[in-house]
Amino acid sequence: MKPDIAVVSGMPPFTAEALEASFTVHKVYEAADKPAFLARIADRVRGIATSGGGGAKAALMDALPNTEIIGCFGVGYDAIDIDAAKARGIRVTNTPDVLTDDVADLALILLLDAARMVSASDRYVRAGLWPKASYRLTQAVAGKTAGIIGLGRIGKAIAKRLEACGMRIAYHGRSKQAGVEYPYYATARDLAEASDFLVLASPGGTETYHLVSAEVLAALGPKGTLINIARGSVVDEAAMIEALKNGSLGAAGLDVFENEPHVPEALFGMDNVVLLPHVGSATLETRQAMGQLMIDNLIAHFAGEPLLTPVA
Ligand code: 8YV
Repeated sequence: MKPDIAVVSGMPPFTAEALEASFTVHKVYEAADKPAFLARIADRVRGIATSGGGGAKAALMDALPNTEIIGCFGVGYDAIDIDAAKARGIRVTNTPDVLTDDVADLALILLLDAARMVSASDRYVRAGLWPKASYRLTQAVAGKTAGIIGLGRIGKAIAKRLEACGMRIAYHGRSKQAGVEYPYYATARDLAEASDFLVLASPGGTETYHLVSAEVLAALGPKGTLINIARGSVVDEAAMIEALKNGSLGAAGLDVFENEPHVPEALFGMDNVVLLPHVGSATLETRQAMGQLMIDNLIAHFAGEPLLTPVA
């Protein structure tokens, strides 16, 4: 008999299909009356499939008290209440590694776009403005310093790409890493002050909430650029908008926002800002690999085999 799982976030069609092949699937995200739907499936459901954005709160775990495992379609699990899962003996898995290259590529794209104004100059051409005047001069990245907050797997992959562009790398994280040669800064503020580009690649959650504060943005300065492929929660978004408005922050390249999918309209008219709809891992190849890894973890759990990528 296939184990029953509750799917609480929309999944790509190929992942949804693959889930159906191995599990009896209950699509919570489609239910009009969620509490009633959860109550109906509560005694049967042994697993939850969710996304990085959808997460899983303690209330969901309580509503599905026979849950043994939560599989997250995404590497970031800040939206899953890990303490609540631990307290209930629920295992949690995520999808690291398979998305590293794509997310790092997108950080590079955002940084180059923010510096060279690729999206803005594309709009310039489409608006028929080129015959009237050459496009404005932009900013070189070679020789500049990229400060990376969160030098984990993705942060290191970003560093490698930016080094290939001739950039200097520095970093901040919870602690200095043995065997890493890049200069370490003990605070986000000091890293920002030393950086031309501040690149966010840390996890979200309470530990990094508004780590990039008004003070950090001021240290990055009017010539500085903020790049965020991590989580919107890492940045004080209101302070960032204010800094961009009054010119105390130079530019930004953003794939993530505090209240997705809602992006503050104040950013829409700014040509020095690149806005993307959280697409760091959104290639067909990577989304297929993420879906497969999430499913393989769920299958391993119900087969009594070791999990492939458990959250620590
Ligand atoms: C996804 C992500 O957007 O992996 C993550 O942490 O943010 C993304 O890859 C998300 O989990 C898919 O819904």
